[in-house]
Amino acid sequence: MKVSVSLGRAVDVATPLLAIGVYEDEPKITGTAAEVDSILGGLLGQLVADQEITGKTNQVVVVHSQGKLPASRIAIVGLGKRSEFDSDTVRQAGAVVAQKARDIKISRFISEVFGRDLPSADLHSWSKALVEGMILGLYRYERFKKPENGAEIEEVTLIEADPRNEDAVRSGARLGEIAADATNLARDLSNGPPNLVTPEYLAQVSASLATDLGFSCEVFDEKALRDKGMRAILAVGEGSVHPPRLVVMRYTGAPDSKRVLAAVGKGITFDSGGLSIKPAETMVPMKHDMSGAAAVIGFLQAVAKMKLPVNVLGVFSAAENLPSGTAYRPSDILTAYNGKTIEITSTDAEGRLILSDALAYAVEQGASAIVDLATLTGACVIALGTVATGLMGNDESLVDQVEKAASACGERVWRLPLWKQYGEQIKSQVADLKNTGGRAAGAITAGYFLSNFVGSVPWAHLDIAGTAYQAPPDQTYPAKDRPYLVSGATGVGVRTLLALAAGWS
Ligand code: BES
Ligand code: MN
Ligand code: ZN
Repeated sequence: MKVSVSLGRAVDVATPLLAIGVYEDEPKITGTAAEVDSILGGLLGQLVADQEITGKTNQVVVVHSQGKLPASRIAIVGLGKRSEFDSDTVRQAGAVVAQKARDIKISRFISEVFGRDLPSADLHSWSKALVEGMILGLYRYERFKKPENGAEIEEVTLIEADPRNEDAVRSGARLGEIAADATNLARDLSNGPPNLVTPEYLAQVSASLATDLGFSCEVFDEKALRDKGMRAILAVGEGSVHPPRLVVMRYTGAPDSKRVLAAVGKGITFDSGGLSIKPAETMVPMKHDMSGAAAVIGFLQAVAKMKLPVNVLGVFSAAENLPSGTAYRPSDILTAYNGKTIEITSTDAEGRLILSDALAYAVEQGASAIVDLATLTGACVIALGTVATGLMGNDESLVDQVEKAASACGERVWRLPLWKQYGEQIKSQVADLKNTGGRAAGAITAGYFLSNFVGSVPWAHLDIAGTAYQAPPDQTYPAKDRPYLVSGATGVGVRTLLALAAGWS
């Protein structure tokens, strides 16, 4: 979909569909909607009075202009209550109006930047959110099946009346497009079936992005992993014919600075549980167990396209966790890259193992701060559901920054403590650590395990097990207030990392 910006009055543009916003619980229509209303002879006012237009979020009402306006149709989008309006309102409105336009088989439309009339209006970030909402909301995974409604939107144009806002709208729209495309790249990787998306496939995607966008990418294959002593990644990959990889991407946007922001991802391309095998039903979604790695790949793509003035180190470890005669076993003891020994108590707690080597490597490579993303624990889904990502770390200030970055882009995170008392649960009789700590506080003991591999580097951990994918709409918990999260992979984390990186320099 092409995104463009045009200067002019919304009521003057010829288009198959013009999208405008109205607020909830307001008897009197304001802004562009008021101009449209008077040209249409009070039609919108009538629809509001009859409660057909409610202004509630997610509502889109389409009316025909019958030749009274250059636009053939008007889509009136609910923006909710004025007092609750924020950038995520714009993102949500962008998603529902774009989905509506596609449903009625419109190939191009024009939209105002919703909320532009509010005193708090921030045309740059709201244009960004609007374009994000549209591109994210229109996403579908189509590699193996063409959608039943084959129509696609070819172009959307943001219209802005005030020339003084033009630059803000243009730059915001461009950033929104890059951020949403990167999120959709992460979604494509996560939605991809595990017979396609293998560790080597993830490595190849990273390498070709690096070539296209001019950053560096290094891939450690099984031989390199053995030479380096990354026994944890190797062990997890031992049961699969698809060998494991460690992928290291470097983007240098601030060559004069020594500060490096590292993003580290879990890339389990399929998690059967290994010999500690999962029950059949819980195994089904485990193609998504590489969503942390996918977020790191999307993040690097966007950082490079935006040319952010920061240094980024993107690392992910990728492996497939399968049972076999060569698989690693419960009771094995492994030595990780930083020399710590780990007793295996479950082969299904594999994410923390492959991350241990990747985190220790990021530390060795000079990371100034590390954020890891991992579909790490079912316990985190029990604690926070599919509504929020779990956030932990060893550094208040970094954890704070991650929390602010997430909330600025509409991704919910919630803090869990990493008190040292939790460390008791992962002490082993025979090694430095064991890889499970029992059912109690399972998300925290997993986070605590990771803290053993970051030394004293500021580090934050995002457990995205509950937020990395959405169940199909006929199953559990559809995210009603997040219409831009369609079912399947969400690409969670990409936009939080981008917001963090943008505030980093
Ligand atoms: N990939 C799973 C965690 C997961 C569960 C992600 C549900 C998404 C949805 C992880 O590797 C795992 O299996 N964790 C175990 C840890 C346990 C053995 C300590 C779990 O959560 O059951
Ligand atoms: Mn597992
Ligand atoms: Zn896993």
